[in-house]
Amino acid sequence: MNTTRQDTVQDESIAFEMIEVVEVSHAESCAAMDMERVVCDRDPATLGGSGCLAMLSPDQRIVITIDGPAGTGKSSVARALAKQLGLDFLDTGAMYRAAAAICIDHGIDINDHAAVVARTAAADLHFDWTRDPPTILAHGVPIDHRIRQKDVTEVVSPLASIKELREHMVRKQRLIGQQHPRLVTEGRDQGSVVFPDAVVKFYLDASADVRARRRAEQMVAMGSAADLGAITAEILERDRSDSSRADGPLMCPGNAICVDTSDMQFQQVVDTLHRHVLAVVG
Ligand code: C5P
Repeated sequence: MNTTRQDTVQDESIAFEMIEVVEVSHAESCAAMDMERVVCDRDPATLGGSGCLAMLSPDQRIVITIDGPAGTGKSSVARALAKQLGLDFLDTGAMYRAAAAICIDHGIDINDHAAVVARTAAADLHFDWTRDPPTILAHGVPIDHRIRQKDVTEVVSPLASIKELREHMVRKQRLIGQQHPRLVTEGRDQGSVVFPDAVVKFYLDASADVRARRRAEQMVAMGSAADLGAITAEILERDRSDSSRADGPLMCPGNAICVDTSDMQFQQVVDTLHRHVLAVVG
């Protein structure tokens, strides 16, 4: 088994903490939802816990999806939103990353699709839900330290275009949705493919320049060198690969609320999503 670790850690989960990021809601998406007429009479920032969702039956199914390209801050936003609403949080990118890490570490050729799926299935990917955020395990062992490393990021998008692997992940994610029916889930295909009946769907976007700058600032903050040009190229290539694949491509679901986070502060994004959710289910 090859257990070589790369130096560069690319953790998108803290992107927002370091940079300023303005909401530009797409007109069509938000036309039906007047943000000024949100029904909760409490400031979302002070809601905490289950906020206004407390009025709903605790076993009522609420699945909220957040999709979007790399570097939009989906993970941190989804996690904070879930916390504010008292829902569980699912990072589906971690599942594809875990599959990539396992394949690299077991010397699997990613062009051998059957081997990729068999190896991933054998790893029995699942989350430890007692952790916050839930940590991903493969073969019963946490691998969250491994999944953001450079070699994983380099192969994850081509690997995620494998139809059979996507089918495996979609089945797993729907199972998680049954076991955790009160869920904020983020990825690329959550609203379009995995949970088409989600009660609220979001699509987060930001310009490639802003996303690359966020990533560079993260890397510098973590003590790594950052080449803005190379990071922009990597982000654009991942956008292209994720958007152009045949199965589960990155797309804004037709009935999603689109939020451009390029000029928004982290908490602004969370509060905006929170208000939309309360307007629909609160
Ligand atoms: O969100 P994150 O950057 O961690 O995702 C890593 C990669 O996993 C994405 O670039 C994409 O190729 C893949 N992915 C996917 N479908 C998802 C989540 C992630 O294809 N639902």
